[in-house]
Amino acid sequence: MSKKIATIIGATGKQGRAAINVFLQKPEYLVRGITRNADSSAARALKARGVEVVQADLNDEATLRVAFEGSHVIFGTTDFVPGFVQYGSERGRDIEAEQGRNVARAAQATPTLEHLIWSTLPSTSKISNGKYACPNFEGKEAANDFIRTLPDLLAKTTFVLVGWYDLNFNYPCYKPVWVEAANRYVVIGDYDPDATLVYIGDVEKNLGPFVKAIAEQPEKTKNGAIVFAYTDTIGFEELLKRWAKAKGKEAAYVSTSYEIMGVLYPEWTKLADMTRWMGDYKDTYWSYKEGEFLSYKDLGIAISDFVSMDESLKYLEIA
Ligand SMILES: NC(=O)c1ccc[n+]([C@@H]2O[C@H](COP(=O)([O-])OP(=O)(O)OC[C@H]3O[C@@H](n4cnc5c(N)ncnc54)[C@H](OP(=O)(O)O)[C@@H]3O)[C@@H](O)[C@H]2O)c1
Repeated sequence: MSKKIATIIGATGKQGRAAINVFLQKPEYLVRGITRNADSSAARALKARGVEVVQADLNDEATLRVAFEGSHVIFGTTDFVPGFVQYGSERGRDIEAEQGRNVARAAQATPTLEHLIWSTLPSTSKISNGKYACPNFEGKEAANDFIRTLPDLLAKTTFVLVGWYDLNFNYPCYKPVWVEAANRYVVIGDYDPDATLVYIGDVEKNLGPFVKAIAEQPEKTKNGAIVFAYTDTIGFEELLKRWAKAKGKEAAYVSTSYEIMGVLYPEWTKLADMTRWMGDYKDTYWSYKEGEFLSYKDLGIAISDFVSMDESLKYLEIA
């Protein structure tokens, strides 16, 4: 019997590697990985593991159409960060939105496609009635809205909302800074210390069980169902303290004004906004209620399948 093809966007990145690892374990699939540079060391490592590496660019729909040919499953993600770093938050948001629409149009034009597993985030603006508009969420939601206008594609789509990476401690606005006189790390910001983070931790390890469960339960997860990929929920300051404890140190959150944040981390305040937004949705899942999304419990994933918070924080590297 001929094998099915699972095509993974962002195959050299964290989320993509999680999906690659899942489909390489499934003998019924040939695994195809998309990258912009098929000669990079990451791409060569994929080839060595039996992945068919294909060169394509999220900014170029024509290349995606070719890369998707014959695919039965596509794991899709866009990348907000390069556009944000190069051009700032507004253009970064727009670039990501267009990347998502490119994926949607190319997926729609792939007749063999059965399932689009679409890693994304919702609109902070819609949820907060315009109080926030976090660029790393809004571009993704623009693409989600576009998918919702394509009924054939929507019927094949699972929206996967990916929770808070522990790697976010590397972003300037969240980075713990050592203060010798205080003998502790500090994070300075204008956050609600109890802002609830819907947390996935080690995304490369912990996204995999979600992708596997989604692929194995298409009847439950297609038709535009929302899967919320998180392993825990935790307050912002509490997470900082858990990280410090895992490292055998002390840490404190130091509150400042939004204006001072703008001086400390100019453009990065746009990424800080997501935590300010989460402060308005304490003890909820970003305003989603249970029953409006599928959690790991709904998908039958055991909590023991995940790397625990303490374990992932212990090995987290902050550059
Ligand atoms: N930080 C969080 O808490 C969090 C939570 C949820 C979602 N996210 C989102 O996750 C996304 C990043 O995913 P990740 O963590 O897996 O990133 P990553 O580890 O930095 O990898 C990025 C991947 O995207 C690929 N890529 C980037 N630009 C591309 C382009 N123009 N065309 C084709 N491929 C491209 C890269 O491939 P090559 O370099 O090999 O081409 C690489 O494989 C961002 O959009 C971010 O907003 C983050």
